[in-house]
Amino acid sequence: MFALALTDTAELRPLSPWHAEEFLTHLDRAREHIAPWVGASFVATDLDSARRVLRRYAERWADDAGGIWGIWADGTLVGGVMFVSFDPQSGVAEAGCWLEPGAEGRGLVTRAASRILDWAIRERGIHRVEWRTKVDNVRSIAVARRLGMRHEGTLREVASGPAGRIDIAVWAVLAGEWRAAG
Ligand SMILES: CC(C)(COP(=O)(O)OP(=O)(O)OC[C@H]1O[C@@H](n2cnc3c(N)ncnc32)[C@H](O)[C@@H]1OP(=O)(O)O)[C@@H](O)C(=O)NCCC(=O)NCCS
Repeated sequence: MFALALTDTAELRPLSPWHAEEFLTHLDRAREHIAPWVGASFVATDLDSARRVLRRYAERWADDAGGIWGIWADGTLVGGVMFVSFDPQSGVAEAGCWLEPGAEGRGLVTRAASRILDWAIRERGIHRVEWRTKVDNVRSIAVARRLGMRHEGTLREVASGPAGRIDIAVWAVLAGEWRAAG
């Protein structure tokens, strides 16, 4: 119902719990590709867990503490962007993203993330948007760069993963930098 054009054929729309079935079908195409890079709880494997992921974001949206939006290309859900966290009081938010492999390389996530960052900074008064990614996630880092973010540092061995401890790079853009870049 509410859609924002990203290209001639792609749209950004709210992604809600009632999309759970469509979300799961999309994850079946994306799972292998995104699993190394996103939190395990996001990669739902059945309808209940898909609904839980979307409900979690719906609750964050209701609490003004996050949100999730899907990218539909030619009418098919192919990925999305989110605010993993969003705190208007401190003025800090963390954005994230994912795509199924067939939708990469078209600038869809850069466009979608730009839209939600613009909303957060210009309409909601967020002062700082962060982007946290594993240090070897080249494509995610390229998105952060395209959004005009700066690499602020690396949280060394901050989390544990199946192959050992993980280094997380922190990228961010400040409201003044975002506005100056237009
Ligand atoms: C991270 C991820 C979403 C990036 O996808 P992506 O397609 O590289 O990013 P975009 O949609 O912004 O597209 C950028 C690509 O489109 C190209 N492009 C075409 N038109 C463009 C435009 N108008 N604007 C920007 N890029 C454009 C860019 O050149 C780039 O392609 P290249 O890398 O081959 O040079 C994707 O790799 C992914 O889902 N990875 C697994 C999950 C993940 O890592 N999530 C993030 C966790 S931190």
